[in-house]
Amino acid sequence: MNIKKVMVVGAGQMGSGIAQVCAMNGYEVILHDLKDEFVERGLTGIRKQLLRQVDKERITAEQMQNFLQNIQSSTQLKNVEQADMVIEAAIENMEIKKNLFAQLDELAPEHTILATNTSSLPITEIAAVTKRPEKVIGMHFMNPVPVMKLVEIIRGLATSQEVYLTVRDMAAKLQKTSVEVNDFPGFVSNRILMPMINEAIFTVYEGVASPEDVDEVMKLGMNHPMGPLTLADFIGLDTCLYIMETLQEGFGDDKYRPCPLLRKYVKAGWLGRKTGRGFYIYD
Ligand code: CAA
Repeated sequence: MNIKKVMVVGAGQMGSGIAQVCAMNGYEVILHDLKDEFVERGLTGIRKQLLRQVDKERITAEQMQNFLQNIQSSTQLKNVEQADMVIEAAIENMEIKKNLFAQLDELAPEHTILATNTSSLPITEIAAVTKRPEKVIGMHFMNPVPVMKLVEIIRGLATSQEVYLTVRDMAAKLQKTSVEVNDFPGFVSNRILMPMINEAIFTVYEGVASPEDVDEVMKLGMNHPMGPLTLADFIGLDTCLYIMETLQEGFGDDKYRPCPLLRKYVKAGWLGRKTGRGFYIYD
């Protein structure tokens, strides 16, 4: 299957990163969101990232212009008529994703692959609302997308081998290393990462050590690039809580119980970097 045009649904941090990487690697991109201002915000972020690359002389100003020209804005879902592939990076909410996939399935050409960047929701359940479950797949990028080398490719129960191979080839074209994962809660990345972050929060909650010291242990003791609480703030504490709840519900095991302190921070609106406060305070 030949993919030329990709529609990225959701122009937030993940969606704009995915759009940038696609545009830089030879794909035509439609960057879609509900409102013009959301798309514009995503494009501003992409321009800023590309300008940094020009400053560092990794790309030329002309290349930057070409990459930007590869991205077309959209606020009409029917623009999916032009796309060979959709990568959905909207909010992590099952009802919203199901609704989106049902609409995309109605509007997209028959050959179009529908991928989701969900970080933990079941691909099989999302696929079930469409009439093309064999063309629905998980393509989970890591944040920040332009920097992180991994893509988890998640096969839903009905995903075809042809679609899997097409998406694997596309990940390679995006200069990412992919791993093949079966559809279970949290896939591989968040099944392992989130319990570690949750445990770091329990460590603070139980008064074992301060957030700074917990992070220091994992940074200097285990060579992690960011401590788990800095990383939690970076990902968003609401997302962390949602993923822990997905693991707990999906496996029915108390070992995935979200820390009460995580719940408290989310209730307070302390969601991390994006709200200016989480385990740390941001200007
Ligand atoms: N967008 C794009 N590029 C970024 C960036 C961003 N938000 N933040 C940093 N970078 C780039 C910088 O421009 C820099 O690039 P060059 O080396 O080419 O100049 C490079 O990343 C390194 O940045 P810094 O020197 O400023 O800082 P750093 O060395 O601390 O690296 C980091 C920053 C790459 C984010 C690093 O701290 C890191 O790897 N952190 C862990 C990130 C991680 O674990 N991500 C996965 C999160 S989980 C997830 O995404 C899945 C999920 O479902 C929740």
